[in-house]
Amino acid sequence: MQIKLEHLNKTYTTKRASVTAVKDISLDFPDNAIIGIIGKSGAGKSSLLRLASLLETPDKGAVYYDGKRVDHLPKKELNRRRLEIGMIFQNFNLFSSRTAGKNVAFPLELAGWNRRDIDARVHEMLALVGLEGRERSPISTLSGGQKQRIAIARALAPKPSILFCDEATSALDPQTTHEILDLIKKIHANMNLTVVMITHQMEVVRDACQYVAVIDNGYVVERGTVSDVFKSPEHSVTREFLSNIRQKELSVESAIAYLQNQGYEVNKK
Ligand SMILES: Nc1ncnc2c1ncn2[C@@H]1O[C@H](COP(=O)(O)OP(=O)(O)OP(=O)(O)O)[C@@H](O)[C@H]1O
Ligand SMILES: [Mg+2]
Repeated sequence: MQIKLEHLNKTYTTKRASVTAVKDISLDFPDNAIIGIIGKSGAGKSSLLRLASLLETPDKGAVYYDGKRVDHLPKKELNRRRLEIGMIFQNFNLFSSRTAGKNVAFPLELAGWNRRDIDARVHEMLALVGLEGRERSPISTLSGGQKQRIAIARALAPKPSILFCDEATSALDPQTTHEILDLIKKIHANMNLTVVMITHQMEVVRDACQYVAVIDNGYVVERGTVSDVFKSPEHSVTREFLSNIRQKELSVESAIAYLQNQGYEVNKK
């Protein structure tokens, strides 16, 4: 699915203040691509995602899926569109009272699938995310990485065309982050799926995305292919994100060099 955001604006008004979280944002997400949206805390990433995923309506501007306008749809049409959208979040948002299998089954029950098809699809999805046979596991018995795998299985069970990820790896350690990104890339390679990943980690953009948009203070301040933006970042916020990962890499390199000097053998993987 191709997604087009055109001049989106969103202001939230509370008793105390009024905040414009999304300011005149226009972006194109090509069909079947993996797109990263990066920005600091409070930049407006989640607000933008809620507009793109039709959870909220913009004050101004329009959202198009494959050229059809989809903001402000009537309820019935909106519910139909929602079946084309999968979402995963930082805190997994699983139902703790349901087993792993029943979590994956949930959107299929909503969509009116019959029991036999649901059981078969749940089995298939658990195998796809590397948790075969865990249908009956209570959510509380799963690790963070396993919970995110269940959330991915649940999001993709109804065969959506879009997967929105809001900080999906932010609660995970680096190794598990790597595994989850690999899983998303593997699934993406085998499905027709547009993936939009919101993150504040440049590593996620580098390791999983083809395109990137940098958001700051409600505005898009930079956009392009990941290789172009990494090669010649133009905005100071982009440069800051890039220098953060370079510093992390340098500190890993210097730690490895130190250990090697001390006579340790270091496996760089
Ligand atoms: N429902 C809401 N009501 C009032 N203000 C809101 C609402 N949602 C977002 N905001 C405000 O809009 C701005 C952008 O918030 P948003 O959650 O989109 O940022 P973010 O980039 O996702 O940040 P984070 O990385 O911390 O998740 C913030 O100032 C926030 O307080
Ligand atoms: Mg957010």
